[in-house]
Amino acid sequence: MENWVRIAASADLDRPRPLIPVTLAGKRLVLFRDETGALGLIGRNCPHRGADLCYGRLENNGLRCPFHGWHFDRTGQCVEQPAEPEGSKMHEQIRVPMIPVRETNGEIYAQIGAALAQTGSEEARP
Ligand code: FES
Repeated sequence: MENWVRIAASADLDRPRPLIPVTLAGKRLVLFRDETGALGLIGRNCPHRGADLCYGRLENNGLRCPFHGWHFDRTGQCVEQPAEPEGSKMHEQIRVPMIPVRETNGEIYAQIGAALAQTGSEEARP
């Protein structure tokens, strides 16, 4: 699999909260399995105030930030901001990085090229 690197075993997500932190190409990411069994690999830092999405709540095919509740789907798109007025479209302008993942024979792979191409605030912190 060209350009794909192993980041975890499928068994690593066999836990009550199927979610683990991953660092790939210096990017802080969170790998999770949603309630349909699909995988997501998205930026770990919420673009609002930087909360760690590893502590987020798994729901509706994505992760809800533990701080103010912004909700991100598996593509990294923000799909809800609870404190915004009803009908607000602000969330459509907000997203976190997303790295394509695939699962084969009990192993999970991420597309390293996508991680290398990402820029922004997801750099690994000391
Ligand atoms: S820090 Fe994530 S919603 Fe505010």
